[in-house]
Amino acid sequence: MIPTPRLPAEGRRIGILGKGGTSKSTTLGHLLAHWSDRGVHVAAADQDVPGDNEVGSLLTWARAENLGGTVYPPIPHNRLREESRKLTPAGGLLAIDTDAWKRTAGGPHFSVLASVDVAAWFMKPTDIELERSGSIFAAMEHLEAVGAANVPRLVIVLTMVNRAARSHRDTREALTAAGYHVLETMIPLSDAQDGYAQSFGKPVRLVDGSPMDLLATELLEEVKK
Ligand SMILES: Nc1ncnc2c1ncn2[C@@H]1O[C@H](COP(=O)(O)OP(=O)(O)OP(=O)(O)O)[C@@H](O)[C@H]1O
Ligand SMILES: [Mg+2]
Repeated sequence: MIPTPRLPAEGRRIGILGKGGTSKSTTLGHLLAHWSDRGVHVAAADQDVPGDNEVGSLLTWARAENLGGTVYPPIPHNRLREESRKLTPAGGLLAIDTDAWKRTAGGPHFSVLASVDVAAWFMKPTDIELERSGSIFAAMEHLEAVGAANVPRLVIVLTMVNRAARSHRDTREALTAAGYHVLETMIPLSDAQDGYAQSFGKPVRLVDGSPMDLLATELLEEVKK
């Protein structure tokens, strides 16, 4: 087992961001359980306010199954920066789940960027997703340009990856060439009966060396930096 990096006493925060349906909530549920399993004190804020026809939020999952830490209901975005600090476990990690990214100045996603140490951008490795991701890159540049009080470190997580196709290599290459940090671990497209597609709302299976396990390790190293 890989030793768990120690987090500073004041704890750390990570935002899970990405376009709609990029496996943010599914992956975060697994990450929380894996982090907790290695003794990291975890909590999460579910900023994805479910609409009338939506049932799959991290909060509903956490109410049905133990994800290893408290999942808090949505926090009003104008209070997120302050509240998320209070909800961060001592020496631990608070993760913030979000709904489909929209670049609205002063909007809820900017509040998340203002609140976290690391922003993890989840994306599928396709040309269209690459094009759409320009929006978060522009937002990050904007924060730097205006000298924002908090500019998180951006890391990219490739999700729903078909390993047999070469598009994940092309996407990684393009992003790396542009100077972005793409994590080694990719979350595979897994729509089998017992795969990640079916795992939402069920107990999380902790599998050593699985993509979720490896991503949990890699992200912990990132938040520790
Ligand atoms: N690795 C995966 N392989 C295949 N299907 C997946 C995978 N991860 C999630 N899914 C499926 O894709 C859909 C979207 O997943 P999920 O709700 O986790 O995405 P999300 O990014 O949180 O979406 P939203 O933007 O709506 O919050 C769900 O039907 C889920 O079961
Ligand atoms: Mg979600």
